[in-house]
Amino acid sequence: MQDKVFIFDTTLRDGEQSPGATMTHAEKLDIAQMLDEMGVDIIEAGFPIASEGDFEAVSAIAKNSRNSVICGLSRANFKDIDRCWDAVKHAAQPRIHTFIGTSPLHRAIPNLDKDQMAQRIHDTVTHARNLCDNIQWSPMDATRTEHDYLCRVVEIAIKAGATTINIPDTVGYTAPRESAELIRMLLERVPGADDIIFATHCHNDLGMATANSLAAVEAGARQVECTINGLGERAGNTALEEVVMALKVRNDIMPFRTGVDSTKLTAISRKVATVSGFPVQFNKAIVGKNAFAHESGIHQDGMLKNAETFEIMRPADVGLTETSLVMGKHSGRAALRSKLKDLGFEVADNQLADIFVRFKALADSKKEIYDEDLLALMQDTGTTSDQDALHIKRLRVICGTDGPKEAELTLTVNGEDKTADATGDGPVDAAFNAVNMLVPHSARLALYQVQAITEGTDAQATVTVRLEEDGKIATGHAADMDTVVASARAYVNALNRLILRRQKTAPGHDTKAVSYRDAG
Ligand code: KIV
Ligand code: ZN
Repeated sequence: MQDKVFIFDTTLRDGEQSPGATMTHAEKLDIAQMLDEMGVDIIEAGFPIASEGDFEAVSAIAKNSRNSVICGLSRANFKDIDRCWDAVKHAAQPRIHTFIGTSPLHRAIPNLDKDQMAQRIHDTVTHARNLCDNIQWSPMDATRTEHDYLCRVVEIAIKAGATTINIPDTVGYTAPRESAELIRMLLERVPGADDIIFATHCHNDLGMATANSLAAVEAGARQVECTINGLGERAGNTALEEVVMALKVRNDIMPFRTGVDSTKLTAISRKVATVSGFPVQFNKAIVGKNAFAHESGIHQDGMLKNAETFEIMRPADVGLTETSLVMGKHSGRAALRSKLKDLGFEVADNQLADIFVRFKALADSKKEIYDEDLLALMQDTGTTSDQDALHIKRLRVICGTDGPKEAELTLTVNGEDKTADATGDGPVDAAFNAVNMLVPHSARLALYQVQAITEGTDAQATVTVRLEEDGKIATGHAADMDTVVASARAYVNALNRLILRRQKTAPGHDTKAVSYRDAG
């Protein structure tokens, strides 16, 4: 039997901490369930001390977990670790992950010298191990930590009871050869290294995260930390789908197995792209829209004769089915629910009722409905209708080559209809100005993105809008065949989310107090 490489997914922690990728409680639960069902070994569900919301999400994921180990992150202090344990302890298989920055730059932050930090590591890992028998410890910025000191602190963590030692390349600085040499060095030099699992955690700043992770595996690491679509701060983390497929397709030279069902990759990639608001680039390996598209004549000819001419894996291996004409206006609820399940969305009855109404409206105006149309429909959710303070009731826009662009908008604000006329540099600007007249706010438009999701002039446009106010970020999505309507709805969706976040962070309510970057 081949050696197993454990897949540790941190989409809900490292991924979610990337600015703008904030997910709701329900979205986190859905993603955790999908990760659990597809065979991910360990799910890092969040950073429980960060906020009440994070704590609740990690606890709920722990309670609902079936097969996966559920892990929470904590800095190197007793309060963080206790809070983390309180959240993960509900899981059948809980894990505490505690970390501290060990490189010279990171040691300077809590102002600890080498001996003081070594003592802190001993004390915190011992404390964690007294709570839980599955402990992961990370020396943050390991790849820029002096080798002698790294060996010393890894040995201390193992002696104090850590069962997994994670080696993070926090700033995406390392290269594949170094990544392998580091793991080899630790395995050779650290007493007790054979009794624990080494993990690799790479960031993609130089585009080498997957290569670095695989090099570490070849050198002896047996846990890869990664995120769906490579989501994560800056250039992101190692992409889970790339590691899983590389180990599968090149098993001849990398003879390791994972427990992940690769046919579920496409569905979870779409789900994460939808809820995070970070679209997958078209040419992204494994899950990009073009990953299996063969445009050129030579390629198409070769493909028709023998698919292996240009394909190293089959679309079905990653769960990609032929884009199909899925449904029409006569399709019923059961068919819609089953199609959504194929696309990775399990919907509750009340959600289905709402989606079905919007599906029928779309089917009335658009003859052919494809998978992509349904995905766009799913993206167009805002929060949930009963939580939303704002709803667009009517929007008329005047635009063209001459005269001012004007928007006339009726918005329901907390149940009361309000109307405004506004002008702008273009129709979208005019529509946004009309919203601002009715709901004055100081949020900055941090992102406005339009994508046509199917071909043809009746294609739906999906629009993503990100607003930022006092460090709070809210993202809204909407889809419509009319780009201006989609834009206005996405803007209002983002505002609805911002209003909810304001309520949650109002005095007396919980605040997102700390980031894992505030290590110490
Ligand atoms: O990149 C990093 O160093 C991390 C640690 C908290 C493991 O995410
Ligand atoms: Zn990280």
